[in-house]
Amino acid sequence: MSQERRERPDGADGASDPPHQQTRWYAGGQYEPLLSEKRSETVAVESSLPDDLTRDELTLPAPAEPEVARHYTRLSQMNFGIESGSIPLGSCTMKYNPKFTEDVAAHPGNRVHPLRADADKQGILHLLYDLQETLATIGGMDAVTLQPPAGAAGEFTGIQVAKAYHDANGDDRNEVIVPESAHGTNFASAAMAGYDVVELPSNEAGRVEVDALEAAVSDDTALLMLTNPNTLGLFERSIEEIAEIVHDAGGLLYYDGANLNSLLGKARPGDMGFDIMHFNLHKTFATPHGGGGPGQGPIGVGADLAPFLPTPQVRETDDGYETYAPEHSIGRVHEFMGNWLVLVKAYAYILRHGDEGLENVSETAVLNANYLASQIEYEVPYGPFHHEFVASANADAGDVAKSMLDYGVHPPTTKWPEIVDEALMTEPTETESKARLDDLAAAFNAVAEMDADDLTETPRTTTARRIDQASAARNPRLSWHALE
Ligand SMILES: Cc1ncc(COP(=O)(O)O)c(C=O)c1O
Repeated sequence: MSQERRERPDGADGASDPPHQQTRWYAGGQYEPLLSEKRSETVAVESSLPDDLTRDELTLPAPAEPEVARHYTRLSQMNFGIESGSIPLGSCTMKYNPKFTEDVAAHPGNRVHPLRADADKQGILHLLYDLQETLATIGGMDAVTLQPPAGAAGEFTGIQVAKAYHDANGDDRNEVIVPESAHGTNFASAAMAGYDVVELPSNEAGRVEVDALEAAVSDDTALLMLTNPNTLGLFERSIEEIAEIVHDAGGLLYYDGANLNSLLGKARPGDMGFDIMHFNLHKTFATPHGGGGPGQGPIGVGADLAPFLPTPQVRETDDGYETYAPEHSIGRVHEFMGNWLVLVKAYAYILRHGDEGLENVSETAVLNANYLASQIEYEVPYGPFHHEFVASANADAGDVAKSMLDYGVHPPTTKWPEIVDEALMTEPTETESKARLDDLAAAFNAVAEMDADDLTETPRTTTARRIDQASAARNPRLSWHALE
């Protein structure tokens, strides 16, 4: 990063300016105002607020610090997080996020105002460029944008890129094909982008039915969206044939990267024929799960689609790095460069693991899923599995899940994908030890022994006991008073 001081054009040295107005001068002659110098205006709000919404007094509780600390610790103990135990939520890839990435993200060098000129944030652009290139290599793609703030936002962005590409070719296509086992966001993203969604049935082996795909593709097909391995944890063995069918019809292939943690260093979506993909950084590269908050879902594309990517992109020049707008960009999908510190954490995770470490991630994810599947006393159709498997509960899957809570573990994802009856979609992830997998299997098996009537009385040991999930969704009580 260039930090050389320059003369001010007005000749003053700025030393006598008040601290909040002190200016910084860097090589290149650009003047970059500090945040505190931005113009601000004072607006009187009293007169615009209705009387019944204002008050003169406010009595706030004033507990002593130990009481506050105990209150929040107690609340945190009512919750279950990855630091309490394993969370085998299929498709969600709830793995443990190593703490060193927090330290890297906390480095003061990362605290640069995003409005500074490119010349003043060369270190940051260097990191973003390296991450773009690294993700492109991992996915077998030609170009990557880091901007979308979640996997689902990546899907929506990828579909917009595909649409812009088809439009530029004068190709009017109105359908997106999605397999029935796909994640709900695939259907939603395609519909939000204005496409008609065509649902594709699975075959008896839980994979894409190639004949049905052949019947479904046409001149209307803009895109086929697939994840591989699919949500049953099964690798689509006919992927090359599938890609050929879609490409021959003039359509594009979209890869939902939610399950990439099972392929790292082993296979690449680009090599399978996918044209567009998203990376769920929180599932694959251990950044925090957003929970509606800041995540990142970069997308990668093949060379033909690169000119349509969102702006800005970062590229390398003779002097360093710069941001630029791709020629036919669909525009901006996030302010600045996205959730920057999430990108720093993913970059740190990738560098720390290196090629061998990433391969080890996928090998362990696959081993753990297959080990757990072999230890539980439930019907587990299909297989062999990659990172996850879907067991059939032989009872109401929701009741089984609630009962598992009493054994101190988090239950799997329930009732999806619908092709397995009373589905328990289970993904132990690569960060669980054999001992913890055995705990999970013990919880599954203890619940398998319970009477059907007993299942409906659980959980008995959690803070909130049995929640009526329909009312919880329709009439949520989100205050801590709900726990009183
Ligand atoms: C298969 C699959 N696709 C897409 C998504 C959406 O990703 P995100 O939660 O980052 O929006 C998920 C999330 O769970 C998923 O499991």
